[in-house]
Amino acid sequence: MAGAGGYGSRMARVFSGIQPTGDKHIGNYLGAIRHWVDGQDEHECIYCIVDLHSITVPVDPAQLRQATLSLATLLFAAGIDPEKSILFVQGHVPQHMELAWYLNCTATMGELRRMTQFKDKSGGQESVSVGLFDYPVLQAADVLLYNAGRVPVGEDQRQHLELMRDIAIRFNGRYGDTFVVPEASIPPVGARIVDLQEPTKKMSTTGGTEQGTLALLEDPKRLQKKIMSAVTDSDGEIRYDVEAKPGVSGLLSLQSAVEGITIPELEARYQGKGYGDFKQDVAASVIELLAPLQARHAELAADPAEVERLLRRGAERALEIAVPQVEAVRERIGFLPAV
Ligand code: TRP
Repeated sequence: MAGAGGYGSRMARVFSGIQPTGDKHIGNYLGAIRHWVDGQDEHECIYCIVDLHSITVPVDPAQLRQATLSLATLLFAAGIDPEKSILFVQGHVPQHMELAWYLNCTATMGELRRMTQFKDKSGGQESVSVGLFDYPVLQAADVLLYNAGRVPVGEDQRQHLELMRDIAIRFNGRYGDTFVVPEASIPPVGARIVDLQEPTKKMSTTGGTEQGTLALLEDPKRLQKKIMSAVTDSDGEIRYDVEAKPGVSGLLSLQSAVEGITIPELEARYQGKGYGDFKQDVAASVIELLAPLQARHAELAADPAEVERLLRRGAERALEIAVPQVEAVRERIGFLPAV
């Protein structure tokens, strides 16, 4: 068996990761989580809560613990099915860190220095951890550890995926075929979900406004209120024009992603109608979309021991793949076996 049983197999295994930071919002759901859920029927999927990546910037221990458990609860509630997929916490599988070291000796300083995310996150900081610089190598280890061929991510991760491929190709060239060279799977025109108060910015729990961000677990009344008070304009027409009408366009994108219908269809539907009616409809469809997730979340959140059990099981299944993969890597590199 080459690697972890995935090498050369036609049906690509899927791997993706998500950081346990910030309250997840509807942009995270429509842009990532929903695709994770949908992917489960077609592929073998491995999804990872990347707590090791979170400590590349300072984070409070109690908050990290709470955020990790609460993100797991949310993902199960959103429809990640532990019977179909593996959902686990990165730190429960120490092989991620071990492989990251081997890949550290494959990646170069020059490559990492070119990463725009590192430049953005480190810019203007007084003190930057080595971990933040090394973040993309740990990310490469995440995927290569499972020989995943397909990595669903947002546009912002394209450069990390390119680096991951370069690392895999270089390692394979040096030591013989070991890793599947993964491909990014980036949604073609991933709906741009914007802040409802500052519609020229992406919706974000860290960089956006509280009023303009729709958190997934938010009370329906608050969701309604936030959508009704979304910024629009004074010309009264429901038309998609990001430059001239960023607010209305943002609401159209949101409604289009939530309902799964095109923007021209929405424009036709709302011809001659007012912003009030339109916003009512957007609010109703957002609330309807989130209702089942919120109901399942309430149930699961009442039983954290069950969530922990599911995560333990996820980690066991991840280890079944990760342990032999790292053994194969160690042998390729030429380490003397310990026994
Ligand atoms: N860096 C990714 C992000 O911020 C998260 C991530 C970590 C990831 N490891 C991964 C994504 C492996 C895909 C594959 O979104």
